[in-house]
Amino acid sequence: MEKSWEILEGACLSCKKCRLWEMRTNVVIGKGNRNADIMFIGEGPGQQEDLTGVPFVGPAGQLLDKMLASVGLSTENAYICNIVKCRPPGNRDPHEDEIQSCINYLRYQLAMIHPKIIVCLGRIAATTILSPDFKITKEHGIWVERKGYWITATFHPSALLRDESKKRPAWEDLQAIRRKLDELQNTETE
Ligand code: URA
Repeated sequence: MEKSWEILEGACLSCKKCRLWEMRTNVVIGKGNRNADIMFIGEGPGQQEDLTGVPFVGPAGQLLDKMLASVGLSTENAYICNIVKCRPPGNRDPHEDEIQSCINYLRYQLAMIHPKIIVCLGRIAATTILSPDFKITKEHGIWVERKGYWITATFHPSALLRDESKKRPAWEDLQAIRRKLDELQNTETE
């Protein structure tokens, strides 16, 4: 069957596959360019995101915007979403059953956007997408090519707000991400 954003939105807005629907104000699907070559995946909506229905609008989102802008990225040329689309109460980590209930929506989104690069923001995205035992402190910045996607992970912007010392390695990851994007876009036009 043909995929469409209308189908995805309809399914997400009426979703009751896990308990998170009971507490949500809004389902938070994604923002940015649906034709982007790069997709950033966070963990799940926080309070501001739940209230607005838009991912990464709170303090972590403001830092993410600045980091992306420093390498020429924004919602004009990137797509941003989360592993789970409803807010876990009190910003706790999403539980495994909640992730598994939601993961097909992300797969569907990925298939429609079909980016060249996927960036996992933080541990939850990295352990869900890259490998269950992924260690963000040790393995951030490593690239894996899978099913035609180049995938990497870096620190979640919330972690950078808590621990300033992670800002430099995150900045270096972003610069490498920018170089990889340029390289992949250039080989396409050669
Ligand atoms: N943290 C996330 O992982 N995602 C958001 O959308 C906001 C904060």
